[in-house]
Amino acid sequence: MNYTKALAEALAPLIELTAEEILPSIEAPPDARLGHFAYPCFRLAKTLKKAPPMIAAEVAGKIMEARPAWLRDAKATGPYINFFLDHAAFAGDVLKDVLSSRENFGAKGQGAGKNVVMDYSSPNVAKHFHVGHLGSTVIGKAIDNIYSFLGYNVTSINHLGDWGTQFGKLIVAYKKWGNHEEIEKTEIEGLTKIYVRFHEEADKDPSLNDEARAWVVKMQNGDEEGLRLWKWFVDLSLREYNRLYEKMGINFDLFRGESYYNNMLDGVAAEIDQKGLLEESDGAKVVFLEDHGMPPCLILRSDGGTLYPTRDIAAAINRHQEFKFDLCLYVTGQEQKLHFAQWMKVVELMGYPWAGGLVHIPYGMYRFEDGAMSTRRGQVIKMEDLINEAVAKTRNIIEERNPSLPNKEEVAWQVGYGALVFNKLYNSRIKDTVFSWEHMLNFEGETGPYVQYTHARACSVLEKGGWGGNVDFDPSLVAEDEAFDVLRLIYDFPGKVEESAAKYEPFIIARQLVAIAQAFNVYYSKNMILVDDAKTRQARLALTCAVRQILKNGLQLLGIAAPVAM
Ligand code: ARG
Repeated sequence: MNYTKALAEALAPLIELTAEEILPSIEAPPDARLGHFAYPCFRLAKTLKKAPPMIAAEVAGKIMEARPAWLRDAKATGPYINFFLDHAAFAGDVLKDVLSSRENFGAKGQGAGKNVVMDYSSPNVAKHFHVGHLGSTVIGKAIDNIYSFLGYNVTSINHLGDWGTQFGKLIVAYKKWGNHEEIEKTEIEGLTKIYVRFHEEADKDPSLNDEARAWVVKMQNGDEEGLRLWKWFVDLSLREYNRLYEKMGINFDLFRGESYYNNMLDGVAAEIDQKGLLEESDGAKVVFLEDHGMPPCLILRSDGGTLYPTRDIAAAINRHQEFKFDLCLYVTGQEQKLHFAQWMKVVELMGYPWAGGLVHIPYGMYRFEDGAMSTRRGQVIKMEDLINEAVAKTRNIIEERNPSLPNKEEVAWQVGYGALVFNKLYNSRIKDTVFSWEHMLNFEGETGPYVQYTHARACSVLEKGGWGGNVDFDPSLVAEDEAFDVLRLIYDFPGKVEESAAKYEPFIIARQLVAIAQAFNVYYSKNMILVDDAKTRQARLALTCAVRQILKNGLQLLGIAAPVAM
């Protein structure tokens, strides 16, 4: 049941407003003891020609005369009317809703008929999947999950960085110093090695750079050998990426890298020109954006260098043609803010009405003690290493806490990886994430392991209590204040999911999960669940089952597994 709506409908005839007008003003007081919902009467003073406290008192009285069964009390406190729900009626309503809709609790087809394209993760070929892409990958995946959950038709695209001058350099390096077998075996490691060597040698012999450029031009003209080697570099890189994606449980509908748009770039430049936007600047073709407070957007370079913005414009046009998107979402580090603002402005200036559906979703960096995204020795941190370390540390914790756990390896992965993901998703995405193993692996902190642990604990109680999914229970037996707190957070959960979708902010879900876990642990510490009285036990198990369901649903939306024991 939608209580704010029911309240608005009950208030409407009493205050000369429509339910729709009232709805946005209904608040949730910060402390449930002060009221479960509140309505401020300030706005009514003018129309009703009375002081707000007087209106509040009168309306509260009238509401109570025709009191619906779910409403326990309506009280005026100054200019506010505070509403108190009947705990038992509320418990029965919320629990039945969760226990019957289960993994779909809150999914009402909000996005039915709407298409969303999601562009995320998108590492750069021949470079390791490093920690800089963790944010794009896990924030992107969470938003993908959330929109899919709400019934949007989501197409996920991995916009691999698979084109540019670096491939010319790699080809030169491979032909001079590469060993096929070794690179086959070592993949990106081997490619990095010859790439580094290229730069060392090019410092001594700059003509190598000309050779590399020549290869890029050849590839652009369809050179078979060049393209064969390029394809090999892409495939080698994908091996590492796919190993990670598989472990992370991430599937893309399309791996469609930058090169996919190569043959569309001239057409896009011609179209921009024909629309009178293209201008000459230092030998390059640009769109001037000073009227929009931005430096020019580079469309064509004279030196054949990369055309990152032009590819993005081509990709957007192509995606709109193909997927008719209502929203096309891009998740990248905030250092790319200007890039996205520029090319999206160009698409708007080109007159495409759907430009409004293009959204850049930036996020902050990792902060280590000694600087961003690097280890003490200044090296980039590989995602594979980072995850392995998280899993190893988790394995040790499990070894200490629960050495007889049957599937330790799987759980260590789920909890270790989950800790990393949750840590990244727990704050507003634009904030930098401070990296601390101790913090993120704390089973008692505001962490992934804490939520997972609470879920596992609920599973174990349900198992011990012989919960068979029987939804026949007496809700008046879960009407304590602490139970109400849990249920209120569960009731609010679907709204939080919608809010997190609207704001592209998974942290809203992550925080709600922690709040639910904390509230449940308070309830649990004050009320034994497996009591002798069968009726009480049944009602408490129903509450436990709802908590388990919501924690699992929420973790899944965030891309984190919910092990049944840990
Ligand atoms: N490959 C880019 C990078 O690693 C991210 C690509 C983001 N997507 C896009 N359509 N530009 O920085």
